[in-house]
Amino acid sequence: MGDSVKFALRSDTLIKKKVNFLKELGKNKDINNSDIFIERALNDKSSIVRREATSSLGRLRDPKYKNVFVKITSDKDPKVVMQAIRALLAIGVTNKELRYLESLKNHKNEMIQASIRERQHHKTGNKNHKDHPGYLTNVTVNASTIEVMELIEDESVHLTFTSPPYYNARDYSFYESYEDYLDFLEACFKSVHRITKEGRFLIVNTSPIIVPRLSRQHSSKRYPIPFDLHNRIINNGWEFIDDIIWLKPEYSVKNRVGGFQQHRKPLGYKPNTTTEMLMVYRKKTDKLLDWNIRSYDLDIVSKSLVKGEFETTNVWKINPKSSKDHTAIFPKELCERVISYYSYVGDLVYDPFAGSGTFGATASKMGRNFFMTELDKGYFNVIRKNFINLDLFQKQEPRFYNLEDFKRAIHDFNG
Ligand SMILES: C[S@@+](CC[C@H](N)C(=O)[O-])C[C@H]1O[C@@H](n2cnc3c(N)ncnc32)[C@H](O)[C@@H]1O
Repeated sequence: MGDSVKFALRSDTLIKKKVNFLKELGKNKDINNSDIFIERALNDKSSIVRREATSSLGRLRDPKYKNVFVKITSDKDPKVVMQAIRALLAIGVTNKELRYLESLKNHKNEMIQASIRERQHHKTGNKNHKDHPGYLTNVTVNASTIEVMELIEDESVHLTFTSPPYYNARDYSFYESYEDYLDFLEACFKSVHRITKEGRFLIVNTSPIIVPRLSRQHSSKRYPIPFDLHNRIINNGWEFIDDIIWLKPEYSVKNRVGGFQQHRKPLGYKPNTTTEMLMVYRKKTDKLLDWNIRSYDLDIVSKSLVKGEFETTNVWKINPKSSKDHTAIFPKELCERVISYYSYVGDLVYDPFAGSGTFGATASKMGRNFFMTELDKGYFNVIRKNFINLDLFQKQEPRFYNLEDFKRAIHDFNG
């Protein structure tokens, strides 16, 4: 064994001994040991020892050591600082000390910032969290999503799930450039952020797309939409949570591999694309998910529990749906999973690019309220027609507006 290894082992054993000693001493809660705790908490080389000494001093719960704990909050090790903060809060702080603690929300370390913010948030209630503005209940507006969102107050919706237009790959939308398209989606998800309740989710379904080639002299162009969109979303207040892969059977997707099947020449390989992404984001907050969950009454929690089998992986095998109503319709099963895993009964869920309205209709059947926007008059009429055929047992009948009628409805609602 080399000298340096021996020394490391020796100092490791010494640290353990010191920690055990301080722990035992701390259990006695004897004020006569306070000098030992203070000396070790402020001066020991090992931060494990400093933390234990701080903890033992904290156990004395004696206000006369509060200035020592304040001193310890300058420790280099965030864990020691957290221990000192805990001790101060347990003893009880004056307004001046509280202001000092609150200033630590600007501490360099993110764990310390979060613990201070978390504490502040615990003081603020979340009793309105489960409610939403009545003028949005089961409403579909035939207008452009951003224009509609501008009319809506902050923190109105609980969940957004959507499949935006696929750049210029389908007929229903046109953008002058890919950059314009990304700018538009960025602005859209920024608005969604504003109208989303604190700590709630946004799920964006996209996939890389191909804009077909103009002629045999040109090549088709592939756009990696989810990857290009991701930074624009997280730069606007969303926190990345999960990437879910929607896996479709190979027979259901466009065959791209046929040419390679014949010629087998490297570089010409183009796999069949059987996946789409569901990117899951949460509106940034220091509050834990538990804070969101606690806003619901027990009976809502119990009604919303995800019963029986559920998907345990981030690969969701779901057959796509084809329909005469829309070229890119959500399968009902996809909506059901999103709704049951990311919302509670009675929530307001939003689809900014509603298409044929599958998300809203499914949400309604699952006891949620929906809000949707769809630009195309033809699709808007499809949504309306489909709802007439649904028996939804909702307290609020579905309502369909153009932009002007929607403005009037908000005005009437607000009296
Ligand atoms: C991919 S499709 C959504 C299909 C939908 N998930 C379904 O289940 O039917 C995108 C939809 O967004 C609509 N759209 C495009 N631009 C829009 C905008 N600015 N505001 C609202 N809807 C828009 C299109 O008309 C299209 O129906």
